[in-house]
Formats: sequence, C-alpha cells, structure tokens
Amino acid sequence: MNRDDLLLSLRSLPANRRIITALDVPGPEQALTLANSLGLDGGFVKVGLELYSAAGPKVVHELRRTGKDVFLDLKYHDIPNTVASAARIAAELGASLCTIHASAGRSALTAAAEALSTAPLGPDAPEGRRPALLAVTVLTSLSETEMAEVRPSSDSLQQSVERLATLAWDCGCDGLVCSAADLPQLRKAVGPEPLVVTPGIRLAGSGTDDQHRVTTPSMAVAAGADFLVIGRPITRAENPAAALANIAADMT
Ligand code: C5P
Repeated sequence: MNRDDLLLSLRSLPANRRIITALDVPGPEQALTLANSLGLDGGFVKVGLELYSAAGPKVVHELRRTGKDVFLDLKYHDIPNTVASAARIAAELGASLCTIHASAGRSALTAAAEALSTAPLGPDAPEGRRPALLAVTVLTSLSETEMAEVRPSSDSLQQSVERLATLAWDCGCDGLVCSAADLPQLRKAVGPEPLVVTPGIRLAGSGTDDQHRVTTPSMAVAAGADFLVIGRPITRAENPAAALANIAADMT
C-alpha cells in the first residue's frame, strides 16, 4: 500500500480507533486482560520495549487475534540491513504502526521505509494495511543540556526536531511521534501530510501523573494530532472502556 493510501485509510478511522492505549505492563497476561477491558471499540494498543522484551512476538499475535490494532513501539536505531529486517517482521506480525529513531540516519530510514513498502503482509495484517513507519525525532526526555552532551550542535532543540522530522519524511517515513506542545511548530515545518501520534494527553481537570506538559484530547487534535497515545488515564480507570469513550468524545 503506498503512503498516500495508507495515511488516508488510517486518518479515516473513527475517533475511538485513533486512541492508542499504552500497555505499559510487564507480562502478556496483564496485557491481554487490559486489552480485553477496553471493549470492542478500543481499537489500538501500544506494545513497547517493556512488554515486547517480556513477551516477544507472541503477544502481538495474541492481541491481533483479539482484534486489536498494534502500535509496535520498539524505536529502531541500527544499521540499514537490521532495521529493514526488523520492519519486515513488524509487517509479518500484522502491526499497524512501528517506530524508528530519525537519528539512525538517511540510509537506515530509507531502508526501513522501503522494506515496509515491499514486505509481504502476514495473515494478521489489519484490513490489508502495511505498518506505518513513524519517526522519533528527539526524545522528549532529553534536555538541551543532555542533547549538547550527545550531539553538540549550533541547532536549538526545536531546530533539531524540525530537521530530523523533515529528513524522516523525505526518506519515506509515514509520520512522526511528537508532543502536542511541539506540534504547531512542527506542522509548520513538515506540513499537514505526515501522520502524527501524540502522547502526554489528559482530560481537563484530571491529574497529570509524571507528565510535565499535558494537553487535552481536543487540543491535541486541533494542533494537528492524528492518533493519541494514552496510558494511565485509561489503564488505571475503574472502567477503561468508559474512560476511552470519554476521551474519544472529547476528540470530536
Ligand atoms: O500514562 P501516560 O498516558 O502518561 O502514558 C503515555 C505513554 O506514552 C507511555 O507509554 C509513555 O512511555 C509514552 N510516551 C510519553 N511521552 C513521550 C513519548 C512516549 O509519555 N514523549
């Protein structure tokens, strides 16, 4: 599936299927229990490094079998051959979204994007869609000081984010992971096309947990977010399916 068709198909999903519930749990049993508690409408779930390290590809197959779309957030950062192979496996697993560090460089970004556009899809591929490749620009946990230690540059952090985002899009990536606070500025640099997935979301009037800058679902969508990654407001709710429905209502 080419990039335009893929982005159109992902953007046409209803609001409740553009919320990605982060399965930040240490094992497959907790992950499946949580995924099932989202109800039939809770379409997307995020499998990150913690769960994948503990449970491996099997948990992705099991989540696909329960009908969930999977955001496989492993943030690839390796040589072109290795990231391309990992991306092909994401396609075989039937993941809907996967991630790569833009700082892996032009060759690795291009190799991963090309691998996904030609990879055979596994039987669990959702609606015939290949995974979308999302680039992580600068981890939001990095301060200006830490950035200067690892990558001394005359660029400001914001300039680095914009440069890496533009590079990733030029190399064939399908979108970006970006905080809502940085999104308006980033959209000016990359335009409306790249798919944007945004974490750090809270409903107005609820707590912020350990997130420093939070945005409401409607504000994130207004700023140009396509998908929202949400953890504790859903996973720690008494009724996760109801919490998800409330957030979806705020998005529209
Ligand atoms: O519980 P909460 O909604 O804060 O979880 C947000 C999810 O998004 C977590 O899985 C977290 O690792 C992820 N994330 C984030 N901030 C970023 C990137 C990812 O909170 N900048």
